[in-house]
Amino acid sequence: MTSSSAGAAFGHRTGEVTIDLPERPDAALFFIGRLHTPWQERSACPKNGRESDALCTVELDPRYQPALEGLEGTTHLWLLYWMNLAPRDLLVQIPRHYGTGRGTFALRSPARPNPIALSAVRLIAINEASLTVTGLDCLDGTPLLDIKPYFASTDSHPEALVGWREARR
Ligand SMILES: C[S@@+](CC[C@H](N)C(=O)[O-])C[C@H]1O[C@@H](n2cnc3c(N)ncnc32)[C@H](O)[C@@H]1O
Repeated sequence: MTSSSAGAAFGHRTGEVTIDLPERPDAALFFIGRLHTPWQERSACPKNGRESDALCTVELDPRYQPALEGLEGTTHLWLLYWMNLAPRDLLVQIPRHYGTGRGTFALRSPARPNPIALSAVRLIAINEASLTVTGLDCLDGTPLLDIKPYFASTDSHPEALVGWREARR
């Protein structure tokens, strides 16, 4: 499915705001692998990685395997991935489970101008160019953009708040 037909599959809800995207992208990316997960349909995916402890596989393109050097003993990773089936033109969205319009940059929705998603995953095993992890929320086959070590010392902000979420409590 192309991202434009996927946009149609996502659909736009009444009240949502879209834009015409720029004619040309400013940069190109390399997909460095694929994420293999148990989920074949969006409706089956967890909403975030903390909702599931399913074992998933990071299948890195073997050309990048040397870049895994030094990961032994690392417990958590940031994975950045490309939500290839999401529309890119939504600025105000009405998520099904919230029902209120909010700006794309106030949401973790996969629909955004650059559909980059991230999850802090637990690294279970490394086998050549394949990593076993838990903590993903994407469809099987989702393209992988990057892998970074998660540093609890600098990446964790336990005091952090999201205003609209607090207001809902
Ligand atoms: C709310 S997003 C959160 C993604 C990531 N954890 C983040 O915060 O950036 C997760 C949802 O994206 C949708 N999704 C999963 N894989 C996708 C893909 N390849 N393309 C488009 N949408 C996808 C599913 O509905 C899933 O529940």
